[in-house]
Amino acid sequence: MPVPQKPGVRPANPCFSSGPCAKHPGWSLDNLKDAFLGRSHRHATGKAKLNEVITRSRKMLGIPDDFHVGILPGSDTGAFEAAMWNLLGARGVDVLSWENFGNEWTKDAVQELKLENCRAFTAPFGEIPDLSQVDFNNDVVFTWNGTSSGVMVPGDSWIPDDRAGLTLCDATSCIFGVDLPWHKLDAVTWSWQKVMGGEAAHGMIALSPRAVERLNTFHPERAIPKVFRMKKNGKLNPEPFEGSTLNTPSLLCVEDAIDGLKWGEDIGGLPVLMGRVQSNFDAVRRWVERTSWVDFLASDPAIRSCTSVTLKVVDPAFAGLSEDELRKTLRRIPKMCEAEGAGYDFSEHKSAPPGFRIWCGATVETSDLEALFPWIEWAFHQVRAELAGEAA
Ligand SMILES: Cc1ncc(COP(=O)(O)O)c(C=O)c1O
Repeated sequence: MPVPQKPGVRPANPCFSSGPCAKHPGWSLDNLKDAFLGRSHRHATGKAKLNEVITRSRKMLGIPDDFHVGILPGSDTGAFEAAMWNLLGARGVDVLSWENFGNEWTKDAVQELKLENCRAFTAPFGEIPDLSQVDFNNDVVFTWNGTSSGVMVPGDSWIPDDRAGLTLCDATSCIFGVDLPWHKLDAVTWSWQKVMGGEAAHGMIALSPRAVERLNTFHPERAIPKVFRMKKNGKLNPEPFEGSTLNTPSLLCVEDAIDGLKWGEDIGGLPVLMGRVQSNFDAVRRWVERTSWVDFLASDPAIRSCTSVTLKVVDPAFAGLSEDELRKTLRRIPKMCEAEGAGYDFSEHKSAPPGFRIWCGATVETSDLEALFPWIEWAFHQVRAELAGEAA
């Protein structure tokens, strides 16, 4: 196979990392000049900034009025573990996982919380467990989009509206990129650094009335670290839901989160953000369809993530390599693109099978993805030629 010429055009923004993700088009440090720096987050202005993140997020996402939306320490991990530590144990639990992050929540449920009546449903990278087996009389713990495997749940029809248990959903790498069915979700968490391109800092949580009811009536006999503590005197502590965080937030990151939300509003809100994600995913799909050596890791189109898109190499020249050799060989491709300033951070997650993971969130421009593909092909064909002992 001939090695293509070095492409002439580079992506205007070569950032394709799945977190922290590309800043939004037009982002500049100047946008953060109103940050309340060197001041207290307990001051009325600091609190108002935190509250602005809550109200703008709530509005953009269409979160029902009767949900509580708050800010918790520890980014998405902190918010999700706070939900698990506070809510689980009142009834049986089904915990579903198909990649690195869901596997961590399974470990939490089984090994750390040691929950009784806990069923773990797991699937290998590129697949999803049989969702028809889930019992919604139990609480159900799952990740909407498995970022490291590029596998997303196939819509929401598998979740009944009418369920006895709660649904705890880690939505961090799809929220703002897909329309979440709030009536099917009870505790939803996310961070600032994914689809909206914010900074990694505090996390967000949305709680349905039934989740709040659980908090107010179920008091597990387990230690709850301060950063997970969502209750005061046995009831929901309203403060994190009003802009009074449990510990000190970065007001620079808060300003950046507000800036991202304002950008999203300016371009047309959730439908436009979702449209940008779909356009990005479609660009990858078209490239995969016309490129014989690359394919989606997830063979079922219904479960392919539209934000963290994972790909594998199917060229027979690579078939004889061990997994380690293949990983080492393929990792040269993003490195070659990085050295050219043409594409950063699109190797697979360290826990995933060898391949590529290309972030397609709303802050990524479709034109940048289209400019990236020829660079990947250029690097791939050089690596392939070397492997085959051909002169590059
Ligand atoms: C699905 C999922 N859950 C949790 C996390 C951890 O998020 P954070 O680093 O914001 O705590 C990530 C990070 O990539 C993720 O993709």
